[in-house]
Amino acid sequence: MPDLLDHLSSRRSLPLPALSEPGPSPDELAAILTMAVRVPDHGKLAPWRFVVFRGMGAEAAGAALAGLIEKREGALSEVRDRAERTRFTRAPLVVAVISTAAQHVKIPIWEQQMSAGAVCMNLIHAANGKGFAATWLTEWPAYDNEAKRFLGIAPEENVAGFIHIGTPGEAPSERPRPVLSDIVTTFEGPA
Ligand SMILES: Cc1cc2nc3c(=O)[nH]c(=O)nc-3n(C[C@H](O)[C@H](O)[C@H](O)COP(=O)(O)O)c2cc1C
Repeated sequence: MPDLLDHLSSRRSLPLPALSEPGPSPDELAAILTMAVRVPDHGKLAPWRFVVFRGMGAEAAGAALAGLIEKREGALSEVRDRAERTRFTRAPLVVAVISTAAQHVKIPIWEQQMSAGAVCMNLIHAANGKGFAATWLTEWPAYDNEAKRFLGIAPEENVAGFIHIGTPGEAPSERPRPVLSDIVTTFEGPA
């Protein structure tokens, strides 16, 4: 499968300003999310779900975040206000991947959470396969219960990622990768 190997050997995220219109159509998004959930999932619990931010919903999310910060910190500078208001409109589409991991008699929470990470990466690969670029962010709203409530995410749920998706507006640059000799050892028997 040379295409897959080429992709895995060269894939990169793009900075948000390079995620241009158009984003995926509803049909393209459905195909991307269908591929995204094709991940290993110990116990078949499907311990994840999606929240899609686009258009007016994405604008409303940003306005709610700006309001939340203003309530906490007082009047916002123009720059700060814009930063919050545009948090979900910097790319044509944002998909929140939510980990719904919960105590289970057999499956550790850690394994359920890792499955949500796999969904994020699969979603990015699927978006790339459909010709889109994608960037995996979390940022402060992922860790703020009040912000999560505005975004429809329960306190016991975790944001695995806000995956920003758009048409690539530039070619990605390379970035350094770990040297295998720094991260690989061969087990040669108990210490
Ligand atoms: C779970 C997770 C959360 C991240 N959150 C952020 C973030 O909030 N802000 C940021 O600038 N980058 C964040 N990143 C890193 C971006 O995805 C980064 O651009 C990416 O690692 C670039 O590597 P790539 O080109 O190999 O995709 C996060 C990455 C992961 C895996």
